[in-house]
Amino acid sequence: MSNTEASQAGGAPSRVTLHLGHLPKKTDIKAPWPRTPTRVDPNNPPWPAYRGYHEYSFAHATMQSRLPTILGKAIEDAIRTLNDQAEEERVVDLSESIERMGGLMTDLSGNAKLRPIIDDSEADVALWNKEIAKYFQGKDFMNAPWLFAEAYKYRRLHECFSVSKFWKDYDVFYRQKCDTFSRSADAVFELSMRFAEPFKIAEGLSNQEELEAERLMFLELTQVCLWGNSTDLSLLINMSEEQIKALQSTGGDHLAATEKNILGNDLGRLWETVKELRQKTGGRIDFVLDNAGFELYCDMVYADFLLQSGLANQIRFHGKRFAWFVSDVTRKDWNWLLNTMVYGQLFPKASEEELESLRRLGRRWKQYEKEGKWVYEQHPFWCTGYTYWDLHSEAPDLFFHLSKSDLVIFKGDLNHRKLTYDCAAPASTPFDVAIGPMASAAGAPRIASLRTIKSDVVVGLGSEGDDVAEKLDETEPGWKISGKYAVVLLSDGRPGEKVRFA
Ligand code: F6P
Ligand code: MG
Repeated sequence: MSNTEASQAGGAPSRVTLHLGHLPKKTDIKAPWPRTPTRVDPNNPPWPAYRGYHEYSFAHATMQSRLPTILGKAIEDAIRTLNDQAEEERVVDLSESIERMGGLMTDLSGNAKLRPIIDDSEADVALWNKEIAKYFQGKDFMNAPWLFAEAYKYRRLHECFSVSKFWKDYDVFYRQKCDTFSRSADAVFELSMRFAEPFKIAEGLSNQEELEAERLMFLELTQVCLWGNSTDLSLLINMSEEQIKALQSTGGDHLAATEKNILGNDLGRLWETVKELRQKTGGRIDFVLDNAGFELYCDMVYADFLLQSGLANQIRFHGKRFAWFVSDVTRKDWNWLLNTMVYGQLFPKASEEELESLRRLGRRWKQYEKEGKWVYEQHPFWCTGYTYWDLHSEAPDLFFHLSKSDLVIFKGDLNHRKLTYDCAAPASTPFDVAIGPMASAAGAPRIASLRTIKSDVVVGLGSEGDDVAEKLDETEPGWKISGKYAVVLLSDGRPGEKVRFA
């Protein structure tokens, strides 16, 4: 007998309906955030990821329009270079790179699936392809987490050149980076005129007064270094000279006013930390750099002071191996800045006095490099799609290396996104919780993040932080992308547990 026949004959009914009226009422069950660390992976951050299709987030504007615009400008740059070439082999080779950029544009604007990176024998290929194979198979530019999709686009852009014969290291943003520095004259000379003369404390002061003078200088220069991050080319593509000037104003009054825009402010704790370093006859401080040109120049002014005041005895700078997020520092940008300061003719309107102050700074900084007091490095991990939660597992050599540092200063917005897994953590989340293993793993160094806020993730605003963020959402809807606000956050560090590697 069939089911139907059975039910017609009074057997089991064909459709069963359960009556659940006697059970407890349906409640609003909230997803448990943050995820337990064992369930966290690049596609599943501790709090919900931002993805390109989230129209409420900056991810959407970036993936939908900013990245295609940036790529369009990059193509224009390569064409400009192409038109200057004479040798056939080089011309053909470059036009093939330009064709590949066209292919990337089609993929990006057509929201193609993320394919593996072509093996161009570079050190990061395995890292990229492992991450794609494990977490992003079948994902596209819009539904992969924003951080990964955006980083992937810059690696694909690099691939357009890395597989070529003559143009492997071509940087499509180089012209732009140099040009913005050349348009930053006012702020450049304001700093060089003040700091060309080696830092000296006025004579006749008591120990207490000396320390206070140093503390004030430290706070001022930390802010110079911080706000140097607001002039980022990826956001300011069409900025006028006047607008750049307003953003780069570094005067004392200006800085006092801007301190109130530092929403999570560990400046005081940072000073206490570096002060302790001097008692150990100066420590090693690392900078994980962000942008070239003016921001790098501010970082160097700050690093110079840290050395001269004996707070540090060595500074290690970490840059990128190839053109990254438009304005990030590469070895070429580093060299360019130092050499243009000493030998360049970038500022035709500057006075001889101003130019000499810049040359003096440049010569001193080049000398630091020769003496090994400043060291420039570029590990492949910095240009991958991994966040820094995976630094100890995916780049253990780099993690060990950083473990030896007394303080690692991460500059800028992207580094902050990578420290915090770029996810929707509440603004009150303590920094140590948001950066996970970078605070808790054995051997994790002391971490500071100096970042002007230019994207969605905001943490470390203290116990009232959720209210602060909510109020700003209501009163200043663009506050997370304007670069007007900032954070200076410091991890707790556990010196007792600090592992020292020989
Ligand atoms: O494209 C968005 C972004 O990644 C944002 O994080 C930020 O606005 C910018 O690019 C990079 O900023 P930064 O140079 O400070 O890391
Ligand atoms: Mg940058």
